[in-house]
Amino acid sequence: MTTKLFHNARIYTPVDKGYPKGGVDQNHSRFYENGALLVKNGKIDSIGDTSQVLNGLFSIPIDQKIDCHGACMIPGFVDPHTHLCFAYRREEEFNMRIAGMPYLEILNQGGGILSSVKAVHEATETELLKNTMIHALSALSFGTTTVEIKSGYGLDTPNELKMLRVIEQVGRYSPLDVVPTFLGAHAIPEDFQGRSDDFVDLVIEEMLPAVAKQKIARYCDVFCEKGVFSIDQGRKILTAAKILGLGIKIHADEVHDLGGASLAADLGAISADHLLAAGTGSIDKMIKAGVVANLLPGTAYSLRKPYAKAREMINAGLPVALATDCNPGSSYTESMPFVFGLAVVNMMMTPLEALTAATLNAAYAAGMADRVGSLDAGKQADFLLLDGGTPAIIAYHAGVNPVIAVYKSGERVK
Ligand code: NIG
Ligand code: FE
Repeated sequence: MTTKLFHNARIYTPVDKGYPKGGVDQNHSRFYENGALLVKNGKIDSIGDTSQVLNGLFSIPIDQKIDCHGACMIPGFVDPHTHLCFAYRREEEFNMRIAGMPYLEILNQGGGILSSVKAVHEATETELLKNTMIHALSALSFGTTTVEIKSGYGLDTPNELKMLRVIEQVGRYSPLDVVPTFLGAHAIPEDFQGRSDDFVDLVIEEMLPAVAKQKIARYCDVFCEKGVFSIDQGRKILTAAKILGLGIKIHADEVHDLGGASLAADLGAISADHLLAAGTGSIDKMIKAGVVANLLPGTAYSLRKPYAKAREMINAGLPVALATDCNPGSSYTESMPFVFGLAVVNMMMTPLEALTAATLNAAYAAGMADRVGSLDAGKQADFLLLDGGTPAIIAYHAGVNPVIAVYKSGERVK
């Protein structure tokens, strides 16, 4: 048993009451000005004012005392939506987009997601692991301690499984906790153009059973979008996934308002993601169904689109989470601080709402809240020390990394 005492920290953390936080609750955080965290065997034993934690210790021996020198301590970020398993970047495509070519038009011409599919097909498993690990470790240096990673650049059974094996290895060989998601329905592959229903059948009859049999993914996701998968096709795939025991997530209303958010509510998805174009009509349905709104402002930034309506969602009581969407196309960033800054400055969220969104609500969106997302006793001691006095520093000191130190299960990993 190793016991570590982290003291002299300004601790900010949402408190986990057993469900994601919406409404005024999302803006609440526990604050200890001279706080301490007692960690036993990588788990949080107690948290509070330093004197209070010390009083509770009596004769328990402490192996290590770590002075945080007044730094701000927050839970490690949970990034609940990424595509960071890919083989190559798409810088040329970014140039095309900023010159005015729409994202979906590039995809319709065989580029975009389909060029990443080609690259994944050509990459060996080792090459793919190397590139994925580079991005995962970069995310860690920006404070991400738990990350969801999707497949979706394979689009056939062997390559989807190859991606999921790589994603699994990132969890095994890096300090990060990794949540794997199967996204076989991410685009219609070239040889299925004009026959998308046949591809949906392949996903349902061949890919999903193989993924479920190997227990290599926790969630199934679908990109519901004009010219990609319809709501009906999404419903078919996600219903099949549920029957096989997978949790479900949806790329919903990213470019067009097709009704992805309502589908997420109908099917009881753990999260509906993007929602840039979602009408406010689906907010109540999502609240009733307990779906977390997983917002990805890096995509609005990169696609130059209006941001999701975070204020309306939070005011209505819908829990909002934040994620990077890290991918080589629509949002190439592994930085949760960048996304946090966009949420505060451009989506009008308060720093404490963004903190809840990037930690506890994000943990709920990734199905990991029983272990991470807040500094509550019993959870893993995953936390960050920031170069500033309050979580606002993350948005205020823009474009730089405010994370001085990253601790995973009580061990310093940055
Ligand atoms: O969430 N929209 C679909 N999937 C990703 C983009 C993937 C890519 O462009 O490579 C997204 O935006
Ligand atoms: Fe995405």
